[in-house]
Amino acid sequence: MKKTLIQSSISAAILSFSSLAMADSCNTASPFISGSSYSAGDVVIVDGETYQCKIAGWCQSSSDFHYRPGSGLNWSDAWQEKSCASNSSSTIEDNTQAGSNASENENIDANTGNESTTSTENTASQVLDDDKHLKLDMNKSHLRFITVKKEHVAEVQRFESINGALAADGQLTFSIDLASVNTQIDIRDSRIQEYLFESALMPKMHFTTHINMAIIDELQQGQLLRVNVDGELEIHGEKKSVNADISIVKVGDEINVFSNQAMIIKSADFSLDGGIELLRQIASLSSIGETVPVYFDLTFAVENSQAPEKLAVPDAPSHLMISWNSMAQEIELSWQDNADNETGYVLQRREAAGPWASVTGLAENSESYSDSTDVAAVLQYRVFAMNDSVSSAMSNVAEIDMALYLTDQPNGNDSNNNNADNNNDSNTDSGNAADPATGANLYAEMGCVGCHGEDGQSPISLFNNVMQQAELSYYIETEMPYGNASSCEGSCADDIASYIIKDFY
Ligand code: HEC
Repeated sequence: MKKTLIQSSISAAILSFSSLAMADSCNTASPFISGSSYSAGDVVIVDGETYQCKIAGWCQSSSDFHYRPGSGLNWSDAWQEKSCASNSSSTIEDNTQAGSNASENENIDANTGNESTTSTENTASQVLDDDKHLKLDMNKSHLRFITVKKEHVAEVQRFESINGALAADGQLTFSIDLASVNTQIDIRDSRIQEYLFESALMPKMHFTTHINMAIIDELQQGQLLRVNVDGELEIHGEKKSVNADISIVKVGDEINVFSNQAMIIKSADFSLDGGIELLRQIASLSSIGETVPVYFDLTFAVENSQAPEKLAVPDAPSHLMISWNSMAQEIELSWQDNADNETGYVLQRREAAGPWASVTGLAENSESYSDSTDVAAVLQYRVFAMNDSVSSAMSNVAEIDMALYLTDQPNGNDSNNNNADNNNDSNTDSGNAADPATGANLYAEMGCVGCHGEDGQSPISLFNNVMQQAELSYYIETEMPYGNASSCEGSCADDIASYIIKDFY
């Protein structure tokens, strides 16, 4: 263990110890007054119980309904129960060790870990040895993010399934099952999964960082260590380094890690901006915020096993090439598969510098795909490999100017949907006149009713653009049902269009 301690590196720049040892904060405990400017570490008394503030922003809330310690709906996001009985410090296992006098407000260079390694050299880790790790306890953990719609309506959303581990060498990882998003509204959950995260293709978000275990060892029970860590966040095929201002508290055998400030996630950094725009359109909102604050509060408990192996990052595909096949009227893509551990590929496309959208997921060892489009503009493609939920770096971007090949487009319709569909022209194969009665049945059968309602008005209105038969039919053929446009073409689209015109307009 000594070796790993010395080797353990931390990407954090500066650590500063706060002087929030348990006894001190209990001494300053005061009756809770909602709306006061509490900071993390402050201790309050409510109905004879003591609580310590974890996240200042929420402790300061004047909403008793949500954050009153012990009784508000979400109080445990803001506060944690705290034992301040006079004998409390002696009932908790004393973790004092050589070097634990790492003094208050001392700065340690975390990159070299110099000071801390010397001070712990003569003791083993109190927390872990090599065949143990700290495992995230989902029952005591949560990760929340806040979304803002229509400029000022903020909503707190959460994920139900997170896996995480803190290994003996200080590697901290946690992974979130994106399909476990819980916004309290089922239809919104499934839209977020489908359009924003595309969780069927890219099921997880990963966060990885290093914590200097020597410093964890020095932590005393109840002492709050505030640390700024650089980590890597992977969502939606994109990896970015992010900085997190976190606190670490040792409580008994458990380690609690929580964010002091929101981690601000910019949707465009993770190619989520296209999805956000889709959600905005679907829900007919004026806006959805493009930066998302994320808060977490994670509790890790000792497990008698080694930390699970991290999934290996697959090698990125290379040599993505593109050409137009005028016979098949298709865009031909090919690339070189360089990975030996991939479980599949994801192909993405965008118009000029617009947001990336996934075209399709492909099986392992795939090296080609044919795409079709009716967008007469410059299109760019890229591809990456997935090993389960871990993505490779991106391939090169390949580009084609479809304006050279597609010319006579009806009203320059540019499809935003994820999957471009075949170009076959409906109006040639519908010999029979469109039939509104058949259209009425198809409107129900094809699921249009689910998004547009019996009356064509809710939740998504059909009356934003009143169209003529040919245009409407073309629109349905190429765009609807949303996300699965190829399922209603030809006479299906013609019949439904005539039904919409006859019964709805
Ligand atoms: C999963 C939800 C969903 C389903 C199912 C669906 N639509 Fe839509 N529809 C939408 C969304 C979202 C829009 C807005 C698209 C946009 O703004 O780009 C829309 C727009 C439309 C419009 C344009 C309305 C206007 O006034 O601009 C028509 C017409 C339409 N849909 C017809 C249909 C038909 C016909 C079906 C069934 C074959 C169908 N939709 C199925 C989600 C859906």
